[in-house]
Amino acid sequence: MDNRDLLYLSQADVVSVGLTMAGIIERVETAFREKGQGRVEMPPKPGIHPGEGDNFIHAMPAYIPAMDSAGMKWVSGFPENHKRGLPYITGLLILNDPETGLPIAVMDCVWITAMRTAAATAVAARQLARPDSAVLGILGCGVQGQTNTEALNVLFPLEKVMAYDVRPEAVDHFAEEISARFDLEVVPVETPQEAVTGCDMVVTAGPILKVPHATIQAGWLDEGAFASLVDFDSYWHPDAMKESDKFCTDDVSQLEHYESIGYFQDIPPIHADVGELVVGKKPGRETPEERTMTCNLGLAIDDMAVAPAVYEQAVEKDIGTWLPL
Ligand SMILES: NC(=O)c1ccc[n+]([C@@H]2O[C@H](COP(=O)([O-])OP(=O)(O)OC[C@H]3O[C@@H](n4cnc5c(N)ncnc54)[C@H](O)[C@@H]3O)[C@@H](O)[C@H]2O)c1
Repeated sequence: MDNRDLLYLSQADVVSVGLTMAGIIERVETAFREKGQGRVEMPPKPGIHPGEGDNFIHAMPAYIPAMDSAGMKWVSGFPENHKRGLPYITGLLILNDPETGLPIAVMDCVWITAMRTAAATAVAARQLARPDSAVLGILGCGVQGQTNTEALNVLFPLEKVMAYDVRPEAVDHFAEEISARFDLEVVPVETPQEAVTGCDMVVTAGPILKVPHATIQAGWLDEGAFASLVDFDSYWHPDAMKESDKFCTDDVSQLEHYESIGYFQDIPPIHADVGELVVGKKPGRETPEERTMTCNLGLAIDDMAVAPAVYEQAVEKDIGTWLPL
């Protein structure tokens, strides 16, 4: 390689680098700390929407000086892809040298997206959930259902996971994977309410819809519980969200952008963004009784917190394919 080469990392390469969820949570928390101090550059993501329905392809650039990280993710979400046997989320990430601007790596972004989204849930939960949270409800037992369970299991004394999905085979697969990898009891449930009521933490990770299906009703989420809305407000009735004492997000200007294009038409006022919670500008959980929620939209800083570590470890371990620029 010379300084005009770039490293290509396939999805298998990225996975084989072997970053841990615990390490990713720490890196994502650092990125939120920097954001909370106003030390990151991250314009709201522009997107295009090919075809019908809820398809998107988003450009997500960010610069985190403290992490020496600059780059952009170009990520697609096509909800109907499963009918073609293709994944919902696909895409690439370009990492640049912040000193010269040269691209230094192009890597598949699927694994990073799966892991950093869950890490952002965990970073928010560290501020918003009860530290003794032991029962987790998962609605949508796909990739995010699994990684969110993994991330919350790093920070909380989890014992049991109540798992719901519209496809029973997804619950079976989730139960197999989670019980093989972690010391957790997985309880498959047949109704969405059983994965909400009685849980200390709830993660909804079904499809993102402009018009929410709003299945979760007021009165379902217990006092003292925390919820992470990975699929935006799609799962929650407005009255159920309004029961939360602190409704947070990862970035207010991005939320406002989504509102301007038709999403989030009936959500509670925002208490804080996750960066403000991490640096203590706004309070997180203050009492064991509060109901708290975060609706993280997914930020470019989440990706750019993780990508340099993938690159550095890949170079060290001689993983990937060098290409001429
Ligand atoms: N906020 C973020 O940063 C972020 C990042 C990545 C993905 N996402 C979103 O997270 C969601 C899940 O992504 P994924 O990669 O896990 O997808 P996935 O296809 O792997 O899993 C989705 C699961 O939801 C199930 N499902 C569909 N409708 C449901 C319903 N009404 N109730 C319960 N389960 C239902 C499907 O059967 C599937 O098992 C998507 O909406 C995706 O856009 C958000």
